[in-house]
Amino acid sequence: MLAIDGLTVRFGGLTALEDVSLHAADGEVLGLIGPNGSGKTTLINALTGVYPATGRVRFRGQDLLDLPPERIVRLGLVRTFQNLRVFRRMTVLENVLAAQNGMTGIGFADLIGGRRRDAARRERAHELVERVGLGGDADRLAGTLPLASQRRLELARALVRDPALLLLDEPSGGMTPAETREMTGLIARLACPGRTVMVVEHKMALITGLCTRLAVLNFGRLIAEGAPAEVLRRPAVVEAYLGTEAPVDA
Ligand SMILES: Nc1ncnc2c1ncn2[C@@H]1O[C@H](COP(=O)(O)OP(=O)(O)O)[C@@H](O)[C@H]1O
Ligand SMILES: [Mg+2]
Repeated sequence: MLAIDGLTVRFGGLTALEDVSLHAADGEVLGLIGPNGSGKTTLINALTGVYPATGRVRFRGQDLLDLPPERIVRLGLVRTFQNLRVFRRMTVLENVLAAQNGMTGIGFADLIGGRRRDAARRERAHELVERVGLGGDADRLAGTLPLASQRRLELARALVRDPALLLLDEPSGGMTPAETREMTGLIARLACPGRTVMVVEHKMALITGLCTRLAVLNFGRLIAEGAPAEVLRRPAVVEAYLGTEAPVDA
């Protein structure tokens, strides 16, 4: 699904990612952890064409680096944001429809597709809103939802683009343990043949309950990769977390 080879990102004198090589197989849930500032979000930004990077990234056999972000989304690599990007003054359903329109372009479809296509889109948007557990909130303004629901909405907005590789940046950020458990279950049901999930997280409950493989970044370098339980015991990983967040917390 994804093969990253020697990925490097520099901001002036700061090297945010250095020579990172990593792969993700079809259908797996790959966890990406590391202390604050270790380069996790930068990796997502490099994969999605937002930050210029060197090295090589192949996604389903195609080179991604140097492609514009919208092309990358159309190829099926879709992300969510650590800092939510939902439209607060639109309803839940409108948010999902807007993400869908951003994908296919409004106008053209309206001209030739007419009402039937419109109805199909609404039905699909509804389906996804239900799927993330917001069925009862479809007509509520997104800005009035609690944070956990906004994170679910962010997920629906990504899913409407039918990703083959879904990149989740701290999907349970700001959530209570109970909300985090629900989000973990939701994400677990998303991975399937044809869809890989890569999740950036701090919460070990989510990581260990979800990920089939774990990669650890520290100061922009990949310091470990493998089975979650084994990786979390490695001295280099434990040490990377010392003085920051404990790697084994709620
Ligand atoms: N646009 C940017 N310009 C300059 N420095 C950046 C930018 N984005 C990230 N960085 C720096 O790159 C490093 C990694 O950041 P980030 O990827 O956000 O870390 P993480 O998501 O692991 O907490 C940090 O030192 C951060 O300050
Ligand atoms: Mg981050």
